[in-house]
Amino acid sequence: MIDTMGTMDTNCKYVLAFDTSNEVVAIGVGRLCADGRVEIIGSEDVSAHRASNTKLLPLVDALLKRVGVPREKIACVCVGRGPGSFTGVRIAMATAKGVASALGVALVGLSTQDAIAWGAHLAGARGRLLVISDAMRKEVYPALFDLDDAGVKRLVPDSVVKAAEFAERLDDKPYGEHLLIAGDALAKYGDLFEPYGEVLPQELWTPSGKGLLAELEAMWASGVADPFDAERHDPLHALPVYTRLSDAEENERARLSQPRARDLRSGVQGAPLASDEHLSFMPFDSAYADDASGIERACMGTDAWGAGTIADDLGQRGRTWWMALRGGRLVGYAGGMLTGDDMEVLKIAVVPAERRSGIARELLGRIAYDAENLAAVELSLEVRASNKGAQAFYRAMGFAECGRRPKYYSDGEDACLMKASVRDVVSSAADHQRFDASNPCLKSEARPNTGLSHSASCGIASASSRSSCADDNAHPVREGRASGLILAIESSCDETAAAVIDATGSILSSIVSSQVDFHARFGGVVPEIASRKHVEAIVGVTRLALAEAACALGIPKLAWRDLDAVAATYAPGLVGALVVGVAFAKGAAWGANIPYIAVNHLEGHLYANKLAESSAPFEPPAVVSLVSGGNTMLVHMRAWQDYEVLGATIDDAVGEAFDKVAKALGMPYPGGPIISQLAEDGNADAIDFPRALLHSGDYRFSLSGLKTAVITYIDKQRASGAPLNLPDICASFQQAVIDVQVSKAKRALEQTGAPTFCLGGGVAANPALRRAYERMAKDMGVKLLMPPLEACGDNAAMIALVARDRYQQGKFEALDADAYAHADLDKPY
Ligand code: KG4
Repeated sequence: MIDTMGTMDTNCKYVLAFDTSNEVVAIGVGRLCADGRVEIIGSEDVSAHRASNTKLLPLVDALLKRVGVPREKIACVCVGRGPGSFTGVRIAMATAKGVASALGVALVGLSTQDAIAWGAHLAGARGRLLVISDAMRKEVYPALFDLDDAGVKRLVPDSVVKAAEFAERLDDKPYGEHLLIAGDALAKYGDLFEPYGEVLPQELWTPSGKGLLAELEAMWASGVADPFDAERHDPLHALPVYTRLSDAEENERARLSQPRARDLRSGVQGAPLASDEHLSFMPFDSAYADDASGIERACMGTDAWGAGTIADDLGQRGRTWWMALRGGRLVGYAGGMLTGDDMEVLKIAVVPAERRSGIARELLGRIAYDAENLAAVELSLEVRASNKGAQAFYRAMGFAECGRRPKYYSDGEDACLMKASVRDVVSSAADHQRFDASNPCLKSEARPNTGLSHSASCGIASASSRSSCADDNAHPVREGRASGLILAIESSCDETAAAVIDATGSILSSIVSSQVDFHARFGGVVPEIASRKHVEAIVGVTRLALAEAACALGIPKLAWRDLDAVAATYAPGLVGALVVGVAFAKGAAWGANIPYIAVNHLEGHLYANKLAESSAPFEPPAVVSLVSGGNTMLVHMRAWQDYEVLGATIDDAVGEAFDKVAKALGMPYPGGPIISQLAEDGNADAIDFPRALLHSGDYRFSLSGLKTAVITYIDKQRASGAPLNLPDICASFQQAVIDVQVSKAKRALEQTGAPTFCLGGGVAANPALRRAYERMAKDMGVKLLMPPLEACGDNAAMIALVARDRYQQGKFEALDADAYAHADLDKPY
């Protein structure tokens, strides 16, 4: 089937397909023929143990060169969505999103399991095929297909199940007498599954480039996909198939489904501490089952569920329940039950006084979001035939009526059946959020020329400013704009950020999409959730950064091809989160045929001082204090890119200590800003907390003893029944931190003779710390530079500033560049 280059038609369009869900990089290049066939031009399947990010793009590049297909001829990118290794799936997905975005083409998501079945089909296998892929944790992803001359037919939706439990199910021969078996779980569980069928050769156990192309051809033929329709297959929407929630969420659901007393003090539960106005959403806690049954009785009449029924349902497999609390009071809840690839909405209720305020939409959005993560494709529900208001709401969320159940309700009323695609409901809920001006999750800062500033509001401001500058008569993109345009991406922790900088160093746009709301109830950042959120946000955030940069340049559109480089934070941070930004950036750089630049996150924090309000520009030498949730260090910045780490924390980071103390006080994550706010009204001398290593004569820091001392103090006060003076505790704790920070900073300035002192990291936003440094700088006669508050935490403007220098020095990375959890600031890269 493989064509030769000699037959290349210059008008032809091609598809690039790849998958890295398993320990294999599978790539296919196909020609999109006018008759709907996908002709295989080339393919490559290479085993890559934990190396997909380094191997994928070099292999793609080499294969395309070998078959003579220039990237501009690619009309469609296809990507295996899994299920498989979460990180592996994300690497392919993020890369594909980058490539498809930069090329401006369709991104079609394929099923990895189907690609395996199609691979077997191409190899001549016929009959009933069971694909069993390794899902780790002693689990497997089973999928069943019928293979005949007409093609491949899937018989069951994706799911995840314990390997041993699934093997036991096969005892009864539920899938017939003769079974073909493939899938990489056979490598681990061969003994368990081999007795149940004929095992296919090992090269058919994982997806192949050819299998991916065959799957696309079938989807195209059935109308499920159109490789030429870039709008329908917008890279924004493609998402991995996970089949399960993160471990943190699963454990949380298990805990909340147990009967327990309500504990409003624990920030971990995300229980609201603030005023009665505070509305919060969280997974349903069984402690609220009584309240829910009260609402049921009031709203559902004879069809009301009792507290016991609700509590029992919470702990069942494949369930998702959410609740809305206002000031600790239950005001709404919703529950869903997964059956196959359908998530049935069992319940959705909002107390009358709270209706029409978006609570039902948010609850349904959460159910749909979980459904998507659990690999459901459809949502279904029943609603009373007379309840026209509810039906209109469901229609607005993407549901359509699909049938009736006569006399379904106990009073004899009919039920109207409605269905929606999970994707549509997730999008409807998200669209609403995106254009809600009060949504704190999407911050946009853009100030051409000097650096960062605030737009009036977030999503709305971005959208309206975009339309106001969409003047097609403006200059063509390349004319009249500064050169050296770089888009930089930051994804090292829980912020997905993108910024565009020009050659003069002006930040043209800076978008920060924070996930903090999703981590808050866990008391800290959950790495798996962070990685998932980056994949969801990255296309939207980079798109907005490009749109705002176009606005700042006064041109209608800025495309990836108009950029001169793409940069991303490559280290240090959460490696699963970093890899999303790096894979996307490399994919976009490759698609746009421009260089990729890697940036050290900590160096970004140093460079953020360039954004400080100052009469003179920031120039080293300087001493910089980096204080964030993950780092605490003093750096001697001898010159640009010449850094000496004078010392760092030997245990907790400063931000971490703030967050842990806050957690002990029952405050949600991140606690730093709350502590510093409370401390403003407290007496910093009230409690004498330890100042570790204050006189150590070096630049090491230790925060863990201080944190423990504060927590012990809190516990003792509670045990003795004494009231907690929160402002005093916060102020005293904060002062202990500040005393050590300032004392070591002073010493570093004296020792190095540096004329300038600056700050970086999320804790640099702490007002008391800033005031203390102002006093220190005045006393010592040194120049003090502090990033503006919005540039202290993670953002991409600071990454763009570093990227600009690296661009000018020609420091580019190859396509095999990776992401790393650790990187020393003083080692050049
Ligand atoms: O640099 P950053 O945004 O990212 C990470 O390092 O993850 O820093 C976040 C950290 C959190 O620990 C947060 O509690 C802390 O910075 N933080 C503060 C303040 N604002 C943020 N800590 C103390 N006082 C503040 N005002």
